[in-house]
Amino acid sequence: MKILVAEEAGFCFGVKRALKLINEYLQKGNKIQTFGPLIHNVPVLNNLAAMGVSSVSSVKEIEKNKTLCIRTHGIPREVEKYLQKKGATILDATCPLVKKEQKIIAQLHAQKANILIVGDKNHPEIIAAQSYAKKVTIINSLAQAKALPACKQICVVAQTTLNTEFFKEVVAVLLAKAEKLTIFNTICQATKDRQQAVRKLAPKVDAIIVVGSKISSNTKKLFHIAKEKNKNSLHIETCADLQKPRILAKIVKFTSIGITAGASTSPEELDCVKNFLQKL
Ligand code: F3S
Repeated sequence: MKILVAEEAGFCFGVKRALKLINEYLQKGNKIQTFGPLIHNVPVLNNLAAMGVSSVSSVKEIEKNKTLCIRTHGIPREVEKYLQKKGATILDATCPLVKKEQKIIAQLHAQKANILIVGDKNHPEIIAAQSYAKKVTIINSLAQAKALPACKQICVVAQTTLNTEFFKEVVAVLLAKAEKLTIFNTICQATKDRQQAVRKLAPKVDAIIVVGSKISSNTKKLFHIAKEKNKNSLHIETCADLQKPRILAKIVKFTSIGITAGASTSPEELDCVKNFLQKL
């Protein structure tokens, strides 16, 4: 079986940076809790748990002697302010590209702009990002874009992990809605590169395997793109999923398989999938 790995796949800059920060902190003997899961990837979170890094979901669970690590997706501004007021020791692992998005929203708010975010309103990144303005509109479909009223001006910002083609489609709809449209393409480079790589790879192979958590936004987008380009696309969470009879029965039929992985999937997981397929 021929195995091809997408030119860009797996850990992105923001995830590598967050894990490096945590490792350095642990090596200095500090104890860490993360506010919400650091990233959306179970094996990586299990590894962190094995190193003593626990995750809390509310301020009540924060332990006094531990450093509180802010996840790559960021946290709402009011929560951050509350933690600072409480004197919590904070290790900020928010991805700098998420910070950039938050800064843009804060500046637009100061300018009293009409802010539109394209993204998932329930995703932690967007929950945090929207806290930087008093009023934002969040949409996540073309139908929602089409339903917006005509207006004088819109400043549109994207979730960092949005599908680049979808964002272009939304922008095209907005052009007809606003007299003045200002576009902040805040989709991060890692997302763009991974999406571009899977678009290129998917038509060249019999099937595509996308590795990453089912709740990871960027992984879900990769799977969606893979499926558009290759109907034999499979989304697995871990290498162990390949051993499931239902999945194994599907993949043994193919003579070539492409692999890609979400930005929070570790190189070890990716190698495990590659090695497993090579042995078939
Ligand atoms: Fe940052 Fe993009 Fe990764 S926003 S965490 S580099 S997917």
